[in-house]
Formats: sequence, C-alpha cells, structure tokens
Amino acid sequence: MILLLLLLLSVTGCGKSVEQREPKLLLGFSQVGSESAWRIGNTRDIEEQAGYHGISLMLENANQKQENQIAAIRRFIAYKVDVIAFSPIVEEGWDNVLEEAREAGIPVILVDRDISTTKTGLTKCLIGADFYKEGVMAAEYLIRKADTLGLEHINIVEISGTLNSTPMRQRQAGFYDTIADDPRMTVLESIDGDFLKSRGAECMRYLLDKYGDSIDVVYSHNDEMTLGALPEIEKKGIAPGEDIIIISIDGGQEAIDVLKKGRINCVVECTPRLGWQLMETALKLKNGEAVDAVIHPEEQVFSDEQDVSLIAPRGY
Ligand code: AHR
Repeated sequence: MILLLLLLLSVTGCGKSVEQREPKLLLGFSQVGSESAWRIGNTRDIEEQAGYHGISLMLENANQKQENQIAAIRRFIAYKVDVIAFSPIVEEGWDNVLEEAREAGIPVILVDRDISTTKTGLTKCLIGADFYKEGVMAAEYLIRKADTLGLEHINIVEISGTLNSTPMRQRQAGFYDTIADDPRMTVLESIDGDFLKSRGAECMRYLLDKYGDSIDVVYSHNDEMTLGALPEIEKKGIAPGEDIIIISIDGGQEAIDVLKKGRINCVVECTPRLGWQLMETALKLKNGEAVDAVIHPEEQVFSDEQDVSLIAPRGY
C-alpha cells in the first residue's frame, strides 16, 4: 500500500508540485542598506512580492557603500541571473559594471533611484518615486502655510539626503524651483544628513548653534533625519511644529504619529512599495516583452491642513 501511494505521488502530485515550485526567474537585487524605516519596508516588500510572484530572489545589502553594490552586480553576472535590479546609492560611477551586465545579456532595472550616464541603453527602466514632485509638494505646502500664518520672511534650513543621490538632488531641485519666485523665502543653509537619524541630530545641533532662533523652517529629506532633529530642537526650548515649521518626506508610521501630535507639520509621502512593479517588470523582461521606461507610483501629502486622525496605518 505504502509503495503504491509513493508511486502515485511521484507520478501525479510530486510532478505537479515540482513544476509549481520551479521559480519563474532568478532576480539579483542589490539594496542600498538599512538606513531608514523606509528602506527596511522597501526590502520587506520586495521579498514578499518575489515570493508572491514565484520569483527566486538573490538579495544583497550594500550597507551604504557603492563598491559593495558594484561587487554584488558582478556576483549576479557571474551567477548568470535572469534579471538584475538595484537601487543606486549615488548617481555616478556605474558605467563599467553596467557595460559588463549588458555584455552578459542580462537586463538591468533601476529601483527607487536613478543613475547619471552619457551612455544609452545600460538599463531597461526605472521604478521609483518622482522625487522632484515630492520637493515641489513640500514647497507648495510651505507657501500655503506661510499664506495662512501671514509670514513675511521665512528662513529655511535644509537637511538633505545622501549627497549626489537621486532623492537628494531631486527633492532639493523641486523645492528650490518652487520657492524661487517667492521673495519671502531664504534658504540659510543646506547640510548633508545622509538619510540617517544620528546625522539628522548632528546637523540640527550644528544649525541651531549657528542660526539660533532665526530658523523658521526645517526641510528634511526623510523621516529618519527629522526624527533625529526634533529632540535637538526641543532641548533648546523651541517647540517643533509651532515655533519652527517641520517638513519631512517618506510618511512612515513613526513620523505620522509625530505629525498627529503636532510636532511635525507636513510629511510628503514616498512609498517604499515598489516590489509588485519590480516583479511584473522583471517577468516581462524575461519574456522579451516591452516595458515602460519610467514607472512612478502615486503619492500624497499628509499635513496639519487635514484631519490627521483619519490617516490609515502606514505599514512601514
Ligand atoms: O531613496 C529613497 C530614500 O532613501 C528615502 O526617502 C529614505 O528614507 C531612504 O533612505
């Protein structure tokens, strides 16, 4: 009986389950690091979506170093993965390794961040937020807030993300372009906080020491740095959200909770949920289908202009 059962399983059930478990493709993904709740949420989403799509994922964490990402891409090439995806920590310096991927015939997807190159055709597409628009939305909020409060002169300090990364460049450009024609706005200084909470605190201490209570606005390129900066402001007896307008980007749960308490005024959403689009695009490339050159998710603004108690749980 047992032998008969085993035979039946091998002829029917087993054959089917092997077919079901066979991964549809092998995807090599090099992640920037674990610098923020956003990044951790993004990694989790990519892992979940790979599982859901039946895609085998080789995930490598570069711990914030470009050379680790380049080495990871070379390993993916040596491993002959079907598709390579990566979130470039900075925009420059990818030409050689991407030429190697092209020579090996492996398509490359950019996730979250872009590269800067004079060469064409090194990558197939970019799946990520419209960082320029995020900067515009942050500045538009500030202009509305200044109108509401009747402010005549506004001193802004900016804590920026990793120097030469796409979100740093684009969030700055979108913000600066939007306030450019508003004579009330002055950017006192922009300082690199590297998207890290500890650096956000350090930058804020420096800015407070230098500019004291002449700071009207903190524009911070991510929640992590904002959350690092807030206690430093409070240590000086200044109330963030009241004495200083605080604008952040990402929209993670912790920042939204602080927004609900009135210590942050505005959070521009940057969704980390890029996994579904990544898997769908990787499958299309494997099947030789055309893909969109740029895919931007829809994003919104959370601020003290709305009933913040209605903001749904964020999940990252
Ligand atoms: O590239 C997206 C940015 O990187 C997010 O805003 C930030 O939190 C992350 O580290």
